[in-house]
Amino acid sequence: MEQKEIIQKTATYIRQQSEGESSGHDWWHIYRVWQMAKYIANQERIDSFIPELAALLHDIADWKFHDGDDSVGPKKAREWLTSIKVDEPIIIQVETIIKNMSFKGAKVETPMETIEGKIVQDADRLDAIGASGIGRTFAYGGNKGLTMHDPERQPMMHTSFEEYKNTPATTINHFHEKLLLLKDRMNTETAKRIAIGRHEFMKKFLDQFDKEWKQKA
Ligand code: NI
Repeated sequence: MEQKEIIQKTATYIRQQSEGESSGHDWWHIYRVWQMAKYIANQERIDSFIPELAALLHDIADWKFHDGDDSVGPKKAREWLTSIKVDEPIIIQVETIIKNMSFKGAKVETPMETIEGKIVQDADRLDAIGASGIGRTFAYGGNKGLTMHDPERQPMMHTSFEEYKNTPATTINHFHEKLLLLKDRMNTETAKRIAIGRHEFMKKFLDQFDKEWKQKA
């Protein structure tokens, strides 16, 4: 099967799988990460096949399994790619990228070894910040029933994934515990450049939110 066909088939499959998803990992999140991965790869002069394929499959575990088991994603991706007869070396690359994708806490490093992996991680992180990031964070908070803001709860800099997973967040604290840290965690020059504007936009939003909270605007 040609690379183009593999991408198209995978996009169709993922779109079907993510139908009705509302926790922030819906099809249009996948779509934006896919397009961004392609864009970054082109800018960085890297073949976009692996980044595009891994971007399409990067959230495959998140729809039906919400228990934080990070072996599910790579396994589901392998099952799909095997079913359409993709070559083993490609499957291994995609699996490895998905395994190393997620943010696990403010002080927990999640290094990505290959440039293809770095690109997908950047694309996913860019979608978590800026206007899209703000929209997704509030949608996620609504979905999980989080408090929007509680001035008595301070943001926490988590030192382990367990701690990060198990501390109830507020939506506003999530900006401080994760989203505002992402700008400095971009891998590629292209993503670093895009992140600057998105980061500034989030900060403006949080400033305004704070002013309104204090009756200063
Ligand atoms: Ni994602």
